[in-house]
Amino acid sequence: MSTIAVVPGSFDPVTLGHLDVIERAARIFDRLHVLVVHNPDKSALLPVAQRVSLIEQAIAAAGFGENITVTSWSVGLLVDYCTDVGASVIVKGVRSQVDVAYETPMAIVNRGLAGVETIFMLPDPAHAHVSSSLVRQVASLGGDVTPYVPKVVADFLQKP
Ligand code: PNS
Repeated sequence: MSTIAVVPGSFDPVTLGHLDVIERAARIFDRLHVLVVHNPDKSALLPVAQRVSLIEQAIAAAGFGENITVTSWSVGLLVDYCTDVGASVIVKGVRSQVDVAYETPMAIVNRGLAGVETIFMLPDPAHAHVSSSLVRQVASLGGDVTPYVPKVVADFLQKP
């Protein structure tokens, strides 16, 4: 039986840290859905459709997308999406104890709601300090985000 996993997130924008987790998860699971979820707790830089497009382009450029679907979700619980597509696992990158503390209640609730397990994946140390909020701040102040995001994202954020 094939195992389907979901990597959910705001991805506003996708970073090299996200891309690393997506690539490694795609090697472990038969099929991977990268799901852009609108997080009402955060004010967004990019429209959801733009975030989906940038993830698709970054994956295509990196060349590992055969078993990956990139899409968005805005109508209900994350686990409802998982149930709809037959996914039994959620994959989350955790960079620190702060991330673990943030993710743990959601993981327990998601398992309770629908029996969907969450797997925490540690980052490549090269990307452990990178976050979308840091990228948004550096970009908004005119700094170079090239070290933190896929080239397609850097080009998009830094276009004149
Ligand atoms: O990248 P983020 O902002 O940390 O991602 C958080 C996200 C969007 C994955 C999380 O807020 C989420 O799962 N939202 C979906 C709504 C939902 O199912 N809430 C209940 C989870 S306990």
